[in-house]
Amino acid sequence: MITIKSAPARVGARIVGIGAYRPTRVVTNDEIAPLIDSSDQWIQQRTGINSRRFASEHETLEEMAVLAATEAIADAKIKSAQIGVVLVATLTNPVQFPAVAPTIATRLGIPDPGAFDVGAACAGFVYALSTAADMVKAGSVEYALVIGAERMTDVLDMTDRGSAFIFGDGAGAFVVGPADFNGFGPIIFGSDGSQAEAISMTSTWFDFRSGKVPEPPTLRMEGQQVFRWAVSEMVGVAQRAITAAGLEPKDLAAFIPHQANNRITDAIVKALDFPDSVAIARDIRDSGNTTAATVPLALHALRSEGRAPAGAPALLLGFGAGLTYAAQVVALP
Ligand code: UT7
Repeated sequence: MITIKSAPARVGARIVGIGAYRPTRVVTNDEIAPLIDSSDQWIQQRTGINSRRFASEHETLEEMAVLAATEAIADAKIKSAQIGVVLVATLTNPVQFPAVAPTIATRLGIPDPGAFDVGAACAGFVYALSTAADMVKAGSVEYALVIGAERMTDVLDMTDRGSAFIFGDGAGAFVVGPADFNGFGPIIFGSDGSQAEAISMTSTWFDFRSGKVPEPPTLRMEGQQVFRWAVSEMVGVAQRAITAAGLEPKDLAAFIPHQANNRITDAIVKALDFPDSVAIARDIRDSGNTTAATVPLALHALRSEGRAPAGAPALLLGFGAGLTYAAQVVALP
């Protein structure tokens, strides 16, 4: 039997820097409501959203990702050249291939990194983060850059009453690096492909190209079905991630769930009985649901408000199309 040498594993990995980019254009509920026979009051009461950002033409997916990542790299106080891998969680890359990660890496001046996109929708950032953490811990790379970026407006139908008011655009990024302690609890993830239709596209691109459908595909969501699934399943997922990290809900400094709906967040917060000492991310209020970008944007907002103490444990939770979910306790940067 031959021995295959492995890279020397590290003691631990942790998040060492974060960044965010929010498009400049603020879009209020009042701007969207007339398109879908809705109202500011209904949208606020049913979701917690006051406004969201919509990207302008020059705020491309790539551009937003580069700007968020530039801040994260500066925050980490490292040089781009130290990054060995770039992971981009997104479902709005405007082309099916190539992945957007290599172009972003090149624009950031990272020489020859591993670079790939992660397609797990609203859970994508947490999937990508745990993958990056494992790569750093295993010694595969020294630093990993993880980006969640979306231009949801590219796939929205602004006349669809079930989704037009929920989504927004933006990008967030984390840098993961080596640490002399363990900054990541076990990842708890899973999927349920039997509910793939719950959040999907109105048709395939091939149906559009062959003329079977007259319009290009747009996002479509069975809101109630996803809501019920999230409320009934995500409490257990969150609890499992906390327990797997050897902690209890009261030990956390912050809970940063996917920003899908404040009522889903409320249900999880109530079921886990978080004390007031746990900061709850509510970035949905001003950002809407930015799919793979919600978790890094929400942590960025929490830290700007002084509610994310460095080194303290926080629970990240992503869930959405697939259906997919992922939860992990991390040490705050
Ligand atoms: O990021 C991926 C994960 N996504 C999610 O987790 C989303 C989960 N789902 C949701 O957040 C919610 O289901 C929505 C916010 C999408 C919808 O809220 P809801 O409370 O489930 O609304 P509903 O579909 O049950 O509709 C309730 C009422 C209905 O009227 P009646 O039958 O009670 O008279 C709808 O016709 O609200 C009406 N309605 C609306 N009214 C104004 C539905 N959509 C709208 C609208 N504006 N846009």
